[in-house]
Amino acid sequence: MSRITPPSTGQNDTTREIMLADAAATQKLGGVLAGLVAPQDVIALWGDLGAGKTSLARAIIQTLLAALGQHEDVPSPTFTLVQTYEADALPIWHADLYRLSDPDELIELGLEEALEAGVLLIEWPDRMEDELPAQRLDIELKEVGEGRLACLTARGVSWEDRIDRAQEQMNQLGA
Ligand SMILES: Nc1ncnc2c1ncn2[C@@H]1O[C@H](COP(=O)(O)OP(=O)(O)OP(=O)(O)O)[C@@H](O)[C@H]1O
Ligand SMILES: [Mg+2]
Repeated sequence: MSRITPPSTGQNDTTREIMLADAAATQKLGGVLAGLVAPQDVIALWGDLGAGKTSLARAIIQTLLAALGQHEDVPSPTFTLVQTYEADALPIWHADLYRLSDPDELIELGLEEALEAGVLLIEWPDRMEDELPAQRLDIELKEVGEGRLACLTARGVSWEDRIDRAQEQMNQLGA
């Protein structure tokens, strides 16, 4: 049984909700988050099949690469489980763990390397079980009407200010 919602939040966790009316709004959120990420960040993307996790990850990655004059298609890592992108000082790791059968297999994927210097974006983070880093940004995507509601929860202080900034910037963009 897959878990599509993050574990219930502790009292000190900060959550911000952002309505994404269409796929273009998801792209905008990806662009905003790309401007806020830093080395060693972990973003866990929660939500059911088709919720928009890959769309959001793709927008983050393509914005980071575009800043370096690069373009990649950013396919879903459904079968490879992990795709990496060399974005100079900020390597990006994009994982889709839906097909991970055991957290022991994580070692082979080498995700610890991402935790050292890069940005790690994880679809189906429930598959990591206890290995999921405690310090992270949780983003839950839920279908609401034709669009999606994104719930951003800062796990640890490092994301608290940044989710406020993300919300402000989305408001400014009129998204
Ligand atoms: N805010 C939005 N409103 C409506 N549709 C959206 C929104 N964001 C993304 N979508 C659409 O949702 C569809 C599924 O997206 P995506 O493949 O990113 O889902 P996923 O969560 O990665 O699914 P999976 O669990 O199968 O990997 C895409 O067609 C995408 O365009
Ligand atoms: Mg996906």
